[in-house]
Amino acid sequence: MDITHIEHLGIAVKSIEACLPYYEGVLGLKCYSIEVVEDQKVRTAFFKVGQTKIELLEPTADDSTIARFIEKKGEGIHHIAFAVPSVREALEEVADKGVQLIDKAPRPGAEGLHIAFLHPKSTCGVLTELCM
Ligand code: CO
Repeated sequence: MDITHIEHLGIAVKSIEACLPYYEGVLGLKCYSIEVVEDQKVRTAFFKVGQTKIELLEPTADDSTIARFIEKKGEGIHHIAFAVPSVREALEEVADKGVQLIDKAPRPGAEGLHIAFLHPKSTCGVLTELCM
């Protein structure tokens, strides 16, 4: 697979607003976009760190996967997202290698990206997103 860079790190938080003093005030990053992704029941906030972004994920409903993640594990790193030239081709390639897929086909994510998740059972415990 032809990964070009880490596109973003997804971090589960209870409240984006409660995290802004840290990300902006302490780290000196600038939140440049806040967006709701309806089908994932999350509100996202983006910060750029060089070529890579930090994506804060705040649940918008109790049955959001992010709400369940925070319930089980607390706030913290939720997933790593690798940029690839073609999500569809990358999915085919990893499926051929026996990786368990959460998404069998790319779907729309925040920032107009096409995204697909690989199952942490097949990725050494890290929820992994492929995106372009
Ligand atoms: Co993501």
